[in-house]
Amino acid sequence: MCGIVGYVGSRQAPALLMEGLKRLEYRGYDSAGVAVISGGKIVRRRTAGKLANLEALIKKDPLNGSVALGHTRWATHGKPSEENAHPHSDCSGSLVVIHNGIIENYLDIKHALTKSGHVFQSETDTEVVAHLIEEKLKSLGDRKSGPTPDLNDPLLFFEATRLALNEVRGAYALAVLWSRAPDVIIAAKTASPLIIGLGEGENFLASDVPGFLSHTRKAVFMEDGEMAVLKADRCTYFNLKGQKIEKAVTQIQWDRTMAEKAGYRHFMLKEIYEQPTSCENTMRGRFYPLMDVMEREAGVSAAVLKGVRHIYMVACGTAYHCCLVGKYWIEKMAAVPVHVEIASEFRYRETMVGPEDLVITISQSGETADTLAAVRLAKGEGAKVLSVCNTVGSAITRVADYNLYTHCGPEFGVASTKAFIGQLTAMAVFTLHFAMARGTMLEAEGRAFIEDLIKVPGHIREALKLEPEIKQIARQFYKKEHFLFIGRYVNFAIALEAALKLKEISYIHAEGYAAGELKHGPIALIDENMPVVAIATRSKVLEKMISSFEEVKARGARLIVLSTKGDGLLQGADFNLQLPPVPELFSPIVNIIPLQMLAYHIADLRGCDVDQPRNLAKSVTVE
Ligand code: AGP
Repeated sequence: MCGIVGYVGSRQAPALLMEGLKRLEYRGYDSAGVAVISGGKIVRRRTAGKLANLEALIKKDPLNGSVALGHTRWATHGKPSEENAHPHSDCSGSLVVIHNGIIENYLDIKHALTKSGHVFQSETDTEVVAHLIEEKLKSLGDRKSGPTPDLNDPLLFFEATRLALNEVRGAYALAVLWSRAPDVIIAAKTASPLIIGLGEGENFLASDVPGFLSHTRKAVFMEDGEMAVLKADRCTYFNLKGQKIEKAVTQIQWDRTMAEKAGYRHFMLKEIYEQPTSCENTMRGRFYPLMDVMEREAGVSAAVLKGVRHIYMVACGTAYHCCLVGKYWIEKMAAVPVHVEIASEFRYRETMVGPEDLVITISQSGETADTLAAVRLAKGEGAKVLSVCNTVGSAITRVADYNLYTHCGPEFGVASTKAFIGQLTAMAVFTLHFAMARGTMLEAEGRAFIEDLIKVPGHIREALKLEPEIKQIARQFYKKEHFLFIGRYVNFAIALEAALKLKEISYIHAEGYAAGELKHGPIALIDENMPVVAIATRSKVLEKMISSFEEVKARGARLIVLSTKGDGLLQGADFNLQLPPVPELFSPIVNIIPLQMLAYHIADLRGCDVDQPRNLAKSVTVE
């Protein structure tokens, strides 16, 4: 997720911006830049890499001014580079934009503006906003009817920005400077966070409270569809219709460390709560036109997808569990055999991969050594490789033929949560377009698939409301030394993932099993000291799941059951966590939510270092 800061006041802005950007470094980034209004002009400094590079650039070539914007970029469209670093400028160089989010219709806007003569300097979606505002300023200035507007009038600047944003679709927290309105910053928010900091004779904006917390604790949290006009002595707020609105001021009580976690105790819990947004951002703009999304988003054409013989899915850990879910989806919707492999095994096996096969690798970091080796092996066998990754420009993405990015922003908790949701969402998007390309899914079925998938973030929000009940359950079980998780069909992989979550942050021995396997051995483990978590949400195999957990109940296990609201409380369960009704295919995306939370609260009660568990690294870059 990008970091945004802005300042308007009487102090020198560059130092304040750098301080604010440093406070937002935890959001992760790969390039940075600032823009200052100085002597009636906009002056920019931008670099790839870390803030130290930007600081050195400013030191070598200082900036002066007290109206300014700063940005740290987490790449989504276009590699990390100076050209792609924000702020982005219009053709005239008199207007710049910084942005956090995804402009879904940026290609259409870019094509239209290019036709009318605009010249683009970057690969980013953001840059189109600068040129679109420039176009609006021009058309407002050329307006034949009504009084000729004063081109230095901030209201013209506001109106041009507002008109431009009414043509933009997607997620944005953005701020704009115009050299002809030198004492004004205009900001707007839809779907990405934007907060105004109210000072004395100065005002701030940032993606997150830490960006200005050392200067003021008075904050205005912007909502979707709102705009702000910041001047040194006042801020005024509008909706996208241009109507003035009133905004409440919040007194921030957090200290800086808490502010970085948005008030949550740990990054992991913050990231668990970010999962609806991770799901929304990963699917955003990736449904229509049905037959060319994969080419536009990942570079793989429908023709290539149509010709695939087999799919091999290769990953490690949580990403591997996503592959297991993807197998069920792809085989059901596209009728193509899918072979799921643990990367550290795949790389040493005599694989059957060939040039007609597509290898899909999944990785949050894009740096996992075993997965990277698997990618290289597959390429050596002549296969095409599609990487599903959260980190633009990472090693795996540089070797893969195609890249479908999950737009989750950086994940700090070592235990992967929101990245897993992003991976599942990306696999659902891939399954849709793969099945459409193969002709195994009719358009009407594709639209129905999309309608169901669009509802998943809402289902995740519903599942998050179970936290109080989950805390109660965690108090009953946090001293246990063993756990068994069981699931069937698409939720077998969720049993594995839930067990991994628990073991890696609480150090409790936990196993995930296909419920049908119990009687082939594991049931010997069952007694009153072996709590069992059964995933028994609405499914074609629900009856089988019920008989499975009755087997363990009969042998004295205490039973925690995930079930679906409306299916009644499943008899025999000691604890029933009721989830909203979700189409079975997508139930893994929702069912993992309470199980992540259960692992989190058990680990927290055990006093474990939830964000940085012992012996673990966030990215395993060695074998
Ligand atoms: C999951 O909670 C773990 N952090 C770990 O299994 C992780 O998923 C695995 O190391 C793969 O990492 P990657 O997604 O960055 O490739």
